[in-house]
Amino acid sequence: MGKELKLGAEARLTLKDNVVVKERIKKSYRLAQIDSVLRKERTSKEASLLQKAARAQVNVPRVLKVDKENFAIEMEFISGELIDKIIDEKLARELGREIALMHDNGIIHGDLTTSNIIVKSGQVFFIDFGLGEISDSVEKKAVDLRVLKEAIRANHPAAADKLNEIILDSYKRHSKKATEVLTRLEDVEKRGRYKER
Ligand SMILES: Nc1ncnc2c1ncn2[C@@H]1O[C@H](COP(=O)(O)OP(=O)(O)OP(=O)(O)O)[C@@H](O)[C@H]1O
Ligand SMILES: [Mg+2]
Repeated sequence: MGKELKLGAEARLTLKDNVVVKERIKKSYRLAQIDSVLRKERTSKEASLLQKAARAQVNVPRVLKVDKENFAIEMEFISGELIDKIIDEKLARELGREIALMHDNGIIHGDLTTSNIIVKSGQVFFIDFGLGEISDSVEKKAVDLRVLKEAIRANHPAAADKLNEIILDSYKRHSKKATEVLTRLEDVEKRGRYKER
């Protein structure tokens, strides 16, 4: 048995010999048959998104093994730090570029918070594609960016405006569909504010 990295609501992560095993755990509130179908589906979906991202040269952990029977993915351990603690202007620029590459390859992350982004040797890596999908939807890309902006705002209230501006500026420089996505992001944020009232 390896060292437990994290026991979350959905998955147990263990580390052994530089390999991370992410195993989707049983949810007893779900009917057993449905539970096993869902865990199997999410396991293969996450693995295939990681593989597609890797093929597109997006920085992600390499998938080493998919074990559907045990609802587990074995992947490369990215030995770095979560970006939430260490983000600065240089990393913000790097992050915008890497998201542009992911989106331009039709990959939506689905949970783009700062705890799903690891920095290793100045490069940003995405993990946790369990809620991701293959899509070219402008709306979904805008929502990815909104989730990230909110996460940065929560972690770095004082520096957030500047960091978010740099991320989006870099996204704009690197993504082909940036104008559409950033316009939609403004709409998504307006809608959010309307709902809050
Ligand atoms: N390949 C990896 N390399 C290094 N650390 C990892 C890797 N995969 C996961 N981790 C660590 O384990 C944590 C949880 O992993 P992940 O986000 O995939 O699972 P999760 O169950 O969705 O967790 P959460 O609910 O926090 O999003 C990450 O925030 C990260 O610190
Ligand atoms: Mg996570």
